[in-house]
Amino acid sequence: MYGSTSGRERALTVPGLRKMKSDREKIAVVTAYDASQAHLLESCGTDVLLVGDSLGMVIQGHPTTLSVTVDHIVYHTACVVRGARRTLIVADMPFLAFSDSDVALRNAGRLIAEGGAQMVKLEGAGHVVETTARLVDSGIPVCGHLGLTPQSVHQLGGFKVQGKESAAAERMVEDARKLEDAGAAMIVLECVPVDLAEAITHTLSIPTIGIGAGVHCDGQVLVWQDLMGMGSGHKPRFVRNFAPAGTSMREAIGAYVSAVKNGSYPSAEESYG
Ligand code: KIV
Repeated sequence: MYGSTSGRERALTVPGLRKMKSDREKIAVVTAYDASQAHLLESCGTDVLLVGDSLGMVIQGHPTTLSVTVDHIVYHTACVVRGARRTLIVADMPFLAFSDSDVALRNAGRLIAEGGAQMVKLEGAGHVVETTARLVDSGIPVCGHLGLTPQSVHQLGGFKVQGKESAAAERMVEDARKLEDAGAAMIVLECVPVDLAEAITHTLSIPTIGIGAGVHCDGQVLVWQDLMGMGSGHKPRFVRNFAPAGTSMREAIGAYVSAVKNGSYPSAEESYG
């Protein structure tokens, strides 16, 4: 009687994420922006695809993510969904798309209904905690995002490691707990000292996904262009090029997924102390 959601059977579901955490199976996440990339990433065993607002930088060529709109994310999410039949797909809520919970509900609804995502990601805490509860209550799975939140780049004064001071670290642990209590299904930790990310990971029963947050997170995420060594300009410490010259795309993605699963990525040198 019940069909598959969006006509497709997703191998990994929202409850499945928690099971991966309790089974200590690492979660390999990569950003994706189009169908061919999504197809390739899925065929190499990537667990989750994130349609990140990083597309403003790596696809559109802007210096920040701030110019990305809900229409852009809907468009790229629909492309990714057409390319990946089984992988869990998370779509980013761009800058000002969740300024209050009514706006957030309308925009998250578009990413799910028009784009075809299974989850939306919101940066920050504060009023985002209440918004998370409202979205979850409406049946929309939510991924949190703490630490370096690029949509607040001007407030943070640049792309910098967050939570180095003890007061800021304590606040981040508290924010992570509040997001979990509000119903978030997982949380991205970006540019966070390795010990703080470990503490948050042990405190929560939902998975943490690190990017520049050390090896103790329940999973890792990398931007596709960074994983493939296609980045230009400043290379953050946590970026590993999995595709040195002569490596095929399939080999590079396979190497990344294996390194996340067996805990050899990120190394101590690729983490912040
Ligand atoms: O937009 C994005 O790609 C992200 C990841 C870097 C976590 O938020």
